[in-house]
Amino acid sequence: MRHLMSPLDFSVEELDRLLDLAHDIEKNPDKYAHLCDGKRIATLFYEPSTRTRLSFEAAMMNLGGKVLGFSSADSSSAAKGESVSDTIRMVSCYADICAMRHPKEGAPLVASMVSSIPVINAGDGGHQHPTQTLTDLLTIRSLKGRLDNLTIGLCGDLKFGRTVHSLIEALVRYENVSFVLISPEELRVPDYIREDVLEANHKNYKEVIRLEEALPHLDLLYMTRVQRERFFNEEDYIRMKDFYILDKAKMALAPDDMLVLHPLPRVNEISTEVDSDPRAAYFKQVQYGVYVRMALILTLLEVNVC
Ligand code: CP
Repeated sequence: MRHLMSPLDFSVEELDRLLDLAHDIEKNPDKYAHLCDGKRIATLFYEPSTRTRLSFEAAMMNLGGKVLGFSSADSSSAAKGESVSDTIRMVSCYADICAMRHPKEGAPLVASMVSSIPVINAGDGGHQHPTQTLTDLLTIRSLKGRLDNLTIGLCGDLKFGRTVHSLIEALVRYENVSFVLISPEELRVPDYIREDVLEANHKNYKEVIRLEEALPHLDLLYMTRVQRERFFNEEDYIRMKDFYILDKAKMALAPDDMLVLHPLPRVNEISTEVDSDPRAAYFKQVQYGVYVRMALILTLLEVNVC
């Protein structure tokens, strides 16, 4: 039985197969409509979510399966003090697979150690968000046609943004991928990403503060929101929250084929005037999230898709 805690749990070859499967699901949805008849996914969300929870639920329903779960810690027995380990033991009796989001880093890993069903990390604190990364990889591969030979700008809260950490870990495995890390000094990527991931893999990267400086050189711009829920005080959040706002004027500095991605939710960091720009791919990204989660469920449940 396999779990998914980090994008590195899959080899590059396994990831390729997963993305191929997601692509086939996109093209031939009817072929997959009953492959999970009689199966159930539990979505255990101890932290707010719109896309991740609903896309897991939509994915299982698209495969013919059913869903159960909770969408906040307060509405579960966690509010009475039940541990994650005990909760997953119960849920293993009710469901075939589980997606868990938790504010504490490592909570889904703890669950996976005692679980008798596959556990998917649906976001743990400021640490990892592997299924957002699968979504991002499928979006990039589908719209750019490749995952190598790319210059990628990551902009915003690179300190607390777990989607950024997972995406960098996944992309360093591809040839000739360079990174431009665009953040204020206070929100730079954590040292372990810089040293253990980028430098250990001999990746070309630079850190800049001004988005305008990076834009002309990018194949892809990955915008992120400042993660209010991870700040220790509101004053710092207010000072940082509008540090970057991507608008039409800034988009004019970018190449004609540069894609703009964002894991969403967006707050102010992308002006709505950018939404109609053909380079804005963040709403398409949401749709790719359903296909890739369908592929992931089939893979972890070892469903024969031939
Ligand atoms: N991208 C993402 O994780 O969105 P949600 O927080 O709405 O799930």
